[in-house]
Amino acid sequence: MRSSTGRWVSGGDFFNRKRELQILETRVRDRNHILLTGQRRMGKTSVLQELGRRLEGDGWIFLFADVEGATCAEDAIADIAQAVHPVRSISSRLATGMKRWIGDNIEELSASEFRVKVRAGLDAGSWRRHGEQLLRDCAAQDQPVLLVIDELPIFLKRMLRGDDGAQRVDEFLSWLRGVLQALGNGSPVLIVSGSIGLGPLVKRLGIPDRINHLDPFRLGPWDRDTSIECFNRLVESHGLRVEDGVANAVYDALGVGIPHHVQSFFARLRDFAMMQSRDRVTVEDVREVYRNALLGPSGQNDLVHYETRLKEGLEDESYSIAMEILAEAAIQEVFTSNARRSLERLYSALVDDVPGRIADVLEILVHDGYLEAGNDGHHFQSRLLRDWCAARFRDHHTPLENRPFARTIGFR
Ligand SMILES: Nc1ncnc2c1ncn2[C@@H]1O[C@H](COP(=O)(O)OP(=O)(O)O)[C@@H](O)[C@H]1O
Ligand SMILES: [Mg+2]
Repeated sequence: MRSSTGRWVSGGDFFNRKRELQILETRVRDRNHILLTGQRRMGKTSVLQELGRRLEGDGWIFLFADVEGATCAEDAIADIAQAVHPVRSISSRLATGMKRWIGDNIEELSASEFRVKVRAGLDAGSWRRHGEQLLRDCAAQDQPVLLVIDELPIFLKRMLRGDDGAQRVDEFLSWLRGVLQALGNGSPVLIVSGSIGLGPLVKRLGIPDRINHLDPFRLGPWDRDTSIECFNRLVESHGLRVEDGVANAVYDALGVGIPHHVQSFFARLRDFAMMQSRDRVTVEDVREVYRNALLGPSGQNDLVHYETRLKEGLEDESYSIAMEILAEAAIQEVFTSNARRSLERLYSALVDDVPGRIADVLEILVHDGYLEAGNDGHHFQSRLLRDWCAARFRDHHTPLENRPFARTIGFR
C-alpha cells in the first residue's frame, strides 16, 4: 500500500471500507440511485472509484463525471459526455446526433477533445435533448451502467450564484430526475456525490422533492481500530519502524479517523524520520510532528482548502457567520446557545432573518462534518480541524459573549 496524500486511491492503495462498499454495491445492483455525502477528504471519490472498478470487473460499464468545474447545465452534460467517450457504443451515437460539431473521427479524439466538441454543440435550447439522448443510449446498453456525478453540489452552488440561479438549479435537477424516471428500470444507476450538502441546498430553495429519487448514504470516518490498522499497514509497506503506541497516539491527536488525515500524518512522520536520519519513530515524535508539521505552515495550506470549500458553498454573509461560529467553537471549545444569541444580535443589523440564517449555517457545518451537536452546544468533531481553526483565529477572535456590541444591543 503506497502512501498517498493527494488524489483518490483505489486497488492496492485503497484500504478497508468493506462495509460501505458492500452497502453501496447492493444498492446499485438493486437499481437504486444514491446520494453519497461526507466531509471532504473522507474518501468519497475513492470509494466510488473502487466500487466502479469492482463492478467493471463484473461486466458493468462505469462512468465517472466530475462536474466540479461546471458553471452551467451545458458544461455538466459535456462532462458526462467526456466520461462516456471511451465507451464507443454510447459515444458514437452521441456523435451521430451531433455530427456538425463532433465530425466523423471520434476515434482520433481524446476524451477531453471530445468534451470540447460536445460542449460547443450545446446551448440553452439543446442541452436537455442531447443530455437525454446520452442517458437513453446508456440505458440501451446490454451491460448495466453506473454513472457517478461527483461534486454535483459545488456545480449547483456556482450556478445558483449566477443570473436566475435558483431557476436553473431547479431546471437541471428536475430534468435529471425526469429523464431517469422516464427510463424506469433500464435507466443507468446514478450516484451523485459531494461534500457540500445537497439536502440543505434544495431545502433552502424550497424544492426538496427534486432529489427524492436519491437514496442518501453518508460516508463517515474510520473508527480507531481501522485508522490504526491503516496506519500500521502504511508503516509496514514503507519499512518504517515505530515504537509501540505510535498509531494510537496518531489517532488520539487527530480525534477522528478521516482517512486523508491518517495518510497525511503518516507522510509527515515519515518525512520527519528521514530528515532526522532516524530509523524509528517514537510517541514523542508524534506530538512534535503534530505541532510543527500538521499545525504548521504546510498543514495550514490544507485548512485553506476547507475554507475555500465553505466559501464556495455559502453566500457571503453566511460565510462570515460560519467563520464566527468556527472561531468560537475552536477557541472556546464550544459554540453555546448564549454565544448563538450574541451572534444573532451582532448580525441583526446586517442581514435579515439572522436566526434562520444561523440555523442554516449550523446545519451545513454539522452536515459537512465540521461540528457536532452536544448537550452544551456545538463542538468540533476533528481535533486537527479545531486546532487548525484555533491557530488561525487565536489572535483576532473575541469570544462572542464578550463583544460590546452584542451586550449593548442586548439591553435595548
Ligand atoms: N479507502 C482509503 N484508503 C486509503 N486512503 C484513503 C482512502 N480513502 C481516502 N483516503 C485518503 O484520503 C485522500 C482523499 O480521498 P478522496 O477520495 O479524494 O476524498 P473525498 O472525495 O471525500 O474528498 C486520499 O488521497 C487518501 O490519502
Ligand atoms: Mg472527491
